[in-house]
Amino acid sequence: MSENKMLSFDPASMMPADVYKLLIGAVVPRPIAFVSTLDTGNVKNLAPFSFFTVASSNPPAVVFCSSVPGRDRAMKDTLRNVLDTREFVLNIVSEEFAEQMNQCSATVPPGVDEFELSGLTPLKSDLVKPSRVAESHIQMECRLVQVVVVSDKPMGGNLVIGEVLRFHVAEDVMNNFQIDPDKLRAIGRMAGLTYAARRIDSNCSVQDRLGRRFGCLLFRSQLLNPLASNAIFKRLNPAAQSFFFAAWCQLRGNA
Ligand SMILES: Cc1cc2nc3c(=O)[nH]c(=O)nc-3n(C[C@H](O)[C@H](O)[C@H](O)COP(=O)(O)O)c2cc1C
Repeated sequence: MSENKMLSFDPASMMPADVYKLLIGAVVPRPIAFVSTLDTGNVKNLAPFSFFTVASSNPPAVVFCSSVPGRDRAMKDTLRNVLDTREFVLNIVSEEFAEQMNQCSATVPPGVDEFELSGLTPLKSDLVKPSRVAESHIQMECRLVQVVVVSDKPMGGNLVIGEVLRFHVAEDVMNNFQIDPDKLRAIGRMAGLTYAARRIDSNCSVQDRLGRRFGCLLFRSQLLNPLASNAIFKRLNPAAQSFFFAAWCQLRGNA
């Protein structure tokens, strides 16, 4: 295998726009938080944020990052609304309404209702004032825990950490609290304007690789591998045993 020539960069001497391009190209795919807030005049606001992840499971908390827009605006409407009202709803984005989600990323003046702008349907929340997005299969009602200002320079970031007070999950995407990715059809943001859509690749699954790479260790355990006691299986060479163990994992739905 030919060795990759590595290029090294010092972010301190780079244009912030180039640093941004490196980051959004490298950290992929990013899930999308579709955040619904209310301003102090009760106007609904919706905006997507792909700098987003889980912050805690106990209690459940999520974090997304609203970046500093530039010299003309100190903060985005979502961040201002969250600071003013301390509430938001985080909606997971599926393929079916990706286009409408994108419309909500347009810079529109405060006071414009982005549900009306995009044609998405507002749904009353149980515990917080901002609406849920009815088209979303998973909605989380959140209360602000903390805003962490990472940097107040243009393109700097404000982390918004929210505790999830209530989950709403469409019945058909969940079984015993396990979300079926085929039914959720969530999308992730890639570099530039591209998105990752759901494609389950079993050759890429971690358990499949574990089964293949560490099969020699795992398949000796009766607990992990009932095949280990099978007379025919025992006569196979280690590579064949590893292969059959991985196949067995897949058939069981583990891979
Ligand atoms: C898929 C997608 C992901 C985005 N991710 C972010 C993000 O992580 N942080 C951010 O500040 N802006 C992000 N944006 C841009 C904001 O959605 C955009 O600035 C929007 O106008 C903010 O709305 P607001 O002013 O109503 O809060 C993203 C846009 C898209 C389409």
